[in-house]
Amino acid sequence: MRAIHHAVLNEISCSSTISQTILDIGCGDGAFTQAVSAAFPHSDITAVDTSVPKSFSSDNITFVKGSVEQLPFVSESFDLVITVLSLHHWKEKNKGISEIYRVLKKDGRIIIGDPLLEDWMSNRILGLLMQKLDGGIFTDKKE
Ligand SMILES: C[S@@+](CC[C@H](N)C(=O)[O-])C[C@H]1O[C@@H](n2cnc3c(N)ncnc32)[C@H](O)[C@@H]1O
Repeated sequence: MRAIHHAVLNEISCSSTISQTILDIGCGDGAFTQAVSAAFPHSDITAVDTSVPKSFSSDNITFVKGSVEQLPFVSESFDLVITVLSLHHWKEKNKGISEIYRVLKKDGRIIIGDPLLEDWMSNRILGLLMQKLDGGIFTDKKE
């Protein structure tokens, strides 16, 4: 795992409540999803990616093929949405952020780990999130 994966795992652990339902967007080969699964064995984890991973198995992970721009889930499904090293790939970032907001439960959390985002892109995404998340507070890039 890379430093960003450890940072995201740490952020997940920082929450005072355990997330029952977690969505990992852009899961790739699922290696990080499996690390989340091992750390949070009682959570129900869904992993989505535009491409199907080669090997992917765990009792509490469901893999779904799909794209962030059109997430195949009903609204307000997840307590926590994570996405690592994926956002800079998304073709329609506005749509992706809107979709995350749609599938997130009220009082849910989003953790975006993407050090490959350029600063202007991070600022734009934070702006979009602030519009969506009424009352959301972002103090720095990491947050
Ligand atoms: C560098 S990999 C990151 C994999 C994993 N999250 C990790 O941290 O190891 C980026 C992944 O994002 C996925 N991806 C790119 N655009 C996407 C989109 N629009 N919707 C969903 N997944 C997407 C790619 O297919 C790829 O598997």
